[in-house]
Amino acid sequence: MQILDGKIVSQAVKDDLKQKTAELISKGGKTPHLAAILIGNNGASETYVASKVKNCEEVGYNSSLIRFETSVDEATLISTIEKLNADDDIDGILVQLPLPKSINEDKIISLIHPDKDVDGFHPMSIGKMIQGLPTFLPATPYGILLMLEHYKIETKGKYAVVIGRSNIVGRPISILLNRNTYPGNCTVTVCHSHTHNLKEICLQGDIIIAALGIPEFLKNDMVKEGAVVIDVGITRVPDTTKKSGFSIKGDVDFTNVAPKCSYISPVPGGVGMMTIAALLMNTFNAAKIKSEK
Ligand code: GUN
Repeated sequence: MQILDGKIVSQAVKDDLKQKTAELISKGGKTPHLAAILIGNNGASETYVASKVKNCEEVGYNSSLIRFETSVDEATLISTIEKLNADDDIDGILVQLPLPKSINEDKIISLIHPDKDVDGFHPMSIGKMIQGLPTFLPATPYGILLMLEHYKIETKGKYAVVIGRSNIVGRPISILLNRNTYPGNCTVTVCHSHTHNLKEICLQGDIIIAALGIPEFLKNDMVKEGAVVIDVGITRVPDTTKKSGFSIKGDVDFTNVAPKCSYISPVPGGVGMMTIAALLMNTFNAAKIKSEK
């Protein structure tokens, strides 16, 4: 069993981006600049956005964090995104999800200019992804592809089982694993809360992507010997032994599943770090495309 180490792979991606960024700037290109919009005080979102900003600095990008109270009105958000769309120095815009219930998430995402949609959530980006056209891929699925690539994991002809059908992970990774390239060329089944025989389907999976957000959902008796298991779960559960009062749990019962796997990604230290690496890749590409115009 080999651990898919998000720390090692994301560091390799970041080292490469740091070098490419310095090269881009030395050739007269622009410094990549990411604008992150954070609304409200969701603890997990605060942590993710702080990490995104910190990682931008690490690779030599500029970043701007724009914060709003939960009570922010839609008009303010719309005008903020319009300003960022029009600002030539901004290469990438992300709106951290989930948004407060009072705000229409789809409407806000669709306002981001597709050329700056480094999260890959805009309907235009998703449409291009489905057609296999060049575009920004959603960060977590893209991070998973980078991880499979790094460990040279064979995907062609494999049976992939994706548990979860969110727009952020489940649905896009199912399309990407199914495309006619590497990583891809899998036969993919997408499972969800209404799937019958989930255990039997999972047992057939050569590759299992657990992305449903239920801590330790995937148990040892749902995984076949030699499977590749990628854990996308990242749920905070109360833990009085921790200073923070919580610990982070994945969607996989790691202790009991790991011995059966050929490869498995841990939580923390797996896919979470790859999400940021992928976002940085998209932001670099946005700046590079702009520099070449
Ligand atoms: N919330 C959970 N994952 C993501 C992500 O990849 N991007 C944004 N913007 N919000 C998220």
